[in-house]
Amino acid sequence: MKESFKEVLRSEIGRVDAAHTAKRNERVIEGFLFTDGNAPRAIIGGRAYALFNSNDYLGLRFHKLIREAGRKAEEKFGAGPGAVRFISGTSRLHKNLEVEIAKFHGREDAILFSSAFAANLAVIHCFMKGQSRDTLVSGNVLVISDELNHRSIIDGIRVANLPKENKAMFKHKDFADLRRIIEENKGKFARVLVITDGVFSMLGEVQDLYGLRSVCDEFQEEYDEGIILIVDDCHGVAAFGETGRGTEEATGGRADILVGTFGKGFGVNGGYAVGDKLAIDYLRESAATYIYSNPCSPAEAGASLFAVQIVEGLEGQSLLKRLQDNISYFKEGVKKLGFSFVVSSTHPIQPISTKSPEKTKAMVDLLFKEGFLVTNINYPVVPRGQDEIRVQVSASHTRLDIDEFAKKLKGAALSCRLM
Ligand SMILES: Cc1ncc(COP(=O)(O)O)c(C=O)c1O
Repeated sequence: MKESFKEVLRSEIGRVDAAHTAKRNERVIEGFLFTDGNAPRAIIGGRAYALFNSNDYLGLRFHKLIREAGRKAEEKFGAGPGAVRFISGTSRLHKNLEVEIAKFHGREDAILFSSAFAANLAVIHCFMKGQSRDTLVSGNVLVISDELNHRSIIDGIRVANLPKENKAMFKHKDFADLRRIIEENKGKFARVLVITDGVFSMLGEVQDLYGLRSVCDEFQEEYDEGIILIVDDCHGVAAFGETGRGTEEATGGRADILVGTFGKGFGVNGGYAVGDKLAIDYLRESAATYIYSNPCSPAEAGASLFAVQIVEGLEGQSLLKRLQDNISYFKEGVKKLGFSFVVSSTHPIQPISTKSPEKTKAMVDLLFKEGFLVTNINYPVVPRGQDEIRVQVSASHTRLDIDEFAKKLKGAALSCRLM
């Protein structure tokens, strides 16, 4: 590499460092400590840390039988998939997982991806394509996205490379704004895609999918090919809703295509989309990140299959109940200490507002010294001035874990003059 290009790279890294938003120096976890009755602790630099920043909402990541299912799958099918599915075939486990996750969501079919990020790239790109050709037909499709959607949705829209007239953003959770955009574009496009997160991962806010579905249905006949609702519910599924079916269950609306991950509430890894068989067949024929990229490993497929079955059963119900109890306990405890929350939510993401990258970093460092892991969330992940500490509650936390954490949180907030 030429020195002049290296200088460009150095300057970009310097800009991120100066803004206190660097992400490359991740904490290195050497292993986990398991003690009876406590949530697992991450071992970092020889010390044990309680995790309040994991998406493993039900604590399934360390579930003995799920790990065993992963090990058995690996023994039977090998460490990796060997090739993409259409070249070398697919394992029975991957097929069974598709059947199981489709059933879990009450849909006809499901398609697996290596990650939900890959699923979003595929779904958005493919549903923007023209009707009969494998090329984009600009002028045909309007994409309308909630302004705070996840990066994978933003990149999905970018990758589709549509002209700017074909893209619009509605104000966050603002259906009047969405309605205005749909109304203004009647007659200009054949099809509209409305895309949203179910749970917005930065604040744990929930999209009202019932309201969103109603808006889409209201204008369905105004566009030749209708309005398609795509929902990414990565943080909702296996975390939220009475039986863990996520935002659809919690708010009552139904997506045409629902994207999810096995890498959060289910405790494993890999992404998927569910919907009508026709839509999923179309994705199998056109989604580049499915056709030209490996699926998750056999171990991940086997473990995910077991994890879905657990969430569907009595154990899942009791873990979801325990998670809700822990969330209430945490919220009450922290409120008593004088904190207020950025949003009122019953989702396990409970963000504490700091409003400044410096204070966020100082708080996270202080909590780390006290043996707790939390995440600082800064621009560009959230708008400038909306910096926060993202606390994530899990079913694996004990009351003692939560009490200790709340106490240290208060100490750190006082030191940082947050309260
Ligand atoms: C809303 C949302 N969508 C998609 C993803 C990507 O999930 P995966 O890790 O399966 O790619 C994430 C993960 O951060 C997310 O929060």
